[in-house]
Amino acid sequence: MLIPAPDLLPASVRAFVERHGREPSWRASAPGRVNLVGEHTDYLGGLCLPVALGHRTWVVAAPRTDSRVHLTSGDALEWSGDTSHLTGSPLRGWASYVVGALRAVGWQGGLDLHVESSVPVGAGLSSSAALICAVVTAVTERSPDDLLRAALEAEQVHVGAPTGGMDQTVSLLARPAHALLLDFAGGGLPAGRPVPWSPERDGVELLVVDTGVRHANDDGAFARRRAEAEAAMALSPDEVVAARDPLPRRRRHVDSENDRVRRVVAAVERHDWTEVGALFTASHVSLRDDHEVSCVELDAVVEAARTAGALGARMTGGGFGGCAVVLVPTTQRDRVVARVSAAARAAGHPEPSFLPGEAGGPATRHRAAGPSHVDLSQAQRLT
Ligand code: GLA
Repeated sequence: MLIPAPDLLPASVRAFVERHGREPSWRASAPGRVNLVGEHTDYLGGLCLPVALGHRTWVVAAPRTDSRVHLTSGDALEWSGDTSHLTGSPLRGWASYVVGALRAVGWQGGLDLHVESSVPVGAGLSSSAALICAVVTAVTERSPDDLLRAALEAEQVHVGAPTGGMDQTVSLLARPAHALLLDFAGGGLPAGRPVPWSPERDGVELLVVDTGVRHANDDGAFARRRAEAEAAMALSPDEVVAARDPLPRRRRHVDSENDRVRRVVAAVERHDWTEVGALFTASHVSLRDDHEVSCVELDAVVEAARTAGALGARMTGGGFGGCAVVLVPTTQRDRVVARVSAAARAAGHPEPSFLPGEAGGPATRHRAAGPSHVDLSQAQRLT
């Protein structure tokens, strides 16, 4: 019923050998993520609390002796160009993320690279950050901070998506069985603190519900919402009161959401899952009514999950489609899944799918013989 996270390393290597005619030199993978709370706050110097998923993107690659760059992926998408394209022509689609990552690490020379992924694309689970983080981890050996700088530059500068830094940071620095409390105050790389996150031990689990409604962070809606929120955050308290709708609502979302992050962390630390669930739902209401980034399909999932016995639920990620996270007692999980599916069918929405929300590990380089865990979460900045 839940889509399990597969190990795609063997398939990636096999496909590389078939498509490129030799063994790959480098193998890496990086996770997608869900955010527990703290939505549309990272790009405003605020707080967020993401976890890495078990679902990952796998990249295998080898340098070439000529200047060709040849990119392949499991679903047969393909891009081929000369290294000179890395500084020139605008690209769209998944190849733009790979090329953006290669630009950000200053890649010189030719390269064969193959991608496999179990992170659904456009579902708000950071498939783009997972791809970029897997590429920079595969083709360079740098400190975690340098990898993070490159990953941020790839998406924000080279691809031009107006995202904050949450997705890349958790993909590179996650710790298994932990959420990552990120504080973007100060404008540089975020300060991070791992927060133990194992609700399963108390008979509660995080369920990820993919509505099947697709979006892209570079399609304009995200940028408009970001601009409004930035304008709202630049106002003094008096100016906010006098400002015209929607600015006061945007401001109220950001201020209340940062407060909810602090309260969720405190509730997680005392294992108060009822309170965590209530805060999830309050976050959804704020994102729906004040920030206006939800959609009817997400609202329907949250409503159906709650009435079927979930402790709380909310949209996760950028919104305008994508996924919700549901905190549910394990004994109620199957009932919630059935009721959410039934509600979607009754409303004529796409059939939702369900992924496990257990907190996984960070971007990792793998040795040829099998996974070798390079635990980037031991970075100095994480105290
Ligand atoms: C997208 C962005 C993130 C963050 C979320 C909303 O996932 O990539 O940086 O802004 O939306 O919280």
